[in-house]
Amino acid sequence: MLIKKIFFVFLETLRFYPPAVATDRICHIDYKIPGTDFVLKKGEGVLIPILGLHHDPEFYPQPEKFNPERFSPKNKNKINPYAFLAFGQGPRNCIGELYQFFAMHSYGHDQFLKLEFLFI
Ligand code: HEM
Repeated sequence: MLIKKIFFVFLETLRFYPPAVATDRICHIDYKIPGTDFVLKKGEGVLIPILGLHHDPEFYPQPEKFNPERFSPKNKNKINPYAFLAFGQGPRNCIGELYQFFAMHSYGHDQFLKLEFLFI
């Protein structure tokens, strides 16, 4: 269970301090944003503010509170997958995402082996 908790801490750290604060896309077709009159024109760039989304109270209640429990199995289904963009989303998302998770797991195990348990 401790290993899983370390994993929640890892995800919450990426939410709190995303190493990539923004990403971008180029629009390939004219696209009217639903519910608005705003049209993105073909060829225009769109900047997606990862840091801003990760600290938006609409997606994360009490966003300035560091709370790894947001990512526990009980709570993680409340997170909109397009509001957690530490590794981006879609066909051009980060190819290193899985590698990072494996690296974190082995780091977590390594640290776990170094822990000393005190039974009182
Ligand atoms: C904690 C570590 C990392 C974070 C937070 C991270 C984050 C990101 C983000 C936000 C993007 C943009 C995704 C998008 O726009 O949808 C990206 C793209 C990318 N990342 Fe990572 N990355 C990490 C590690 C790595 C590693 C280890 C590799 C290589 C082994 C890697 C390779 C790439 C590549 C090649 C892209 C461009 C993908 C494309 O344009 O199709 N990243 N990364």
